[in-house]
Amino acid sequence: MFQKLKQRWKVNGLNLLLIITTFALGGSLCGYAGRKILLLTSLEKGFLWFILYIILVTLLWPLCVLLISIPLGQFTFFRSYIIKIWKKMSPPAGQAGGRKEHLTHIAVFASGAGSNAEQIINYFATSQNVKIALVVCNKPGAGVLQIAAKAGIPSILIEKERFFKGDGYLPELKQLNIDFIVLAGFLWKMPASLLNAYPKKIVNIHPALLPKYGGKGMYGQFVHQAVIASGDKESGITIHFVDEVYDNGEIIFQTKCEVAEHDTPETLAQKIHVLEHASYPAVIASVIQKQNRS
Ligand code: GAR
Repeated sequence: MFQKLKQRWKVNGLNLLLIITTFALGGSLCGYAGRKILLLTSLEKGFLWFILYIILVTLLWPLCVLLISIPLGQFTFFRSYIIKIWKKMSPPAGQAGGRKEHLTHIAVFASGAGSNAEQIINYFATSQNVKIALVVCNKPGAGVLQIAAKAGIPSILIEKERFFKGDGYLPELKQLNIDFIVLAGFLWKMPASLLNAYPKKIVNIHPALLPKYGGKGMYGQFVHQAVIASGDKESGITIHFVDEVYDNGEIIFQTKCEVAEHDTPETLAQKIHVLEHASYPAVIASVIQKQNRS
């Protein structure tokens, strides 16, 4: 059980101990404070007292837990934990008091290990406005398929003929109300059927500073090999809209990293992955937010 909690909350053993201690102390503190507050009233212990006690404890719990979390160094964890609970309890968009917002359904296209797909899935796991509704993959056995299964996200394995010469799997996308497509290590070109159905709604991440090192055959390690071979002192990532030409659409975001003397394609790939994981989900969120506002 503790192992599962460590994985779920992405914490080490010591932090898990501190988190459980915070839960315990915070719980006791709000119980104690609830009783003290009720003592100030002249209420006899009975049904009404009990109901008020439950309400008080529920209201005081977040406050007490946050208070205790400060000296135990767990404030950041509990702040986001409470925000998550709050979001879950708030009325869904469009219902009593909730602001009606469009729920964007994303399909993530990936054919590799899927580390970017995983970051995106985790980032939007608690989102009220964005749902990762589908993973699309063209490689049987690709790591991303396991990631999707673990997250409970449906996936489809696509084949070339139908993708390029057929309907581009548009019926499957439409059936799941997909309104935005994210390419995360997907190496096939987007067919016209999808480009027409999703204008300015398909984004891609490229592991270099486009327009350099883009185009057909420029993916993954080949990009990093080319950067190192050229002697460039910096590389980076590019997030861009997708059009009919490889790595050509309008650039949305770029960020850089140093290429050190001793870097190999593998070490550079690691640096690039760090940049990608830190930026891609947030950039997707901001593109969707802007498009939904306009
Ligand atoms: C990423 O580095 C991405 O930029 C690259 O494939 C990798 C996929 O890694 N994409 C391209 O090269 C596209 N031209 P991941 O499967 O671990 O997310």
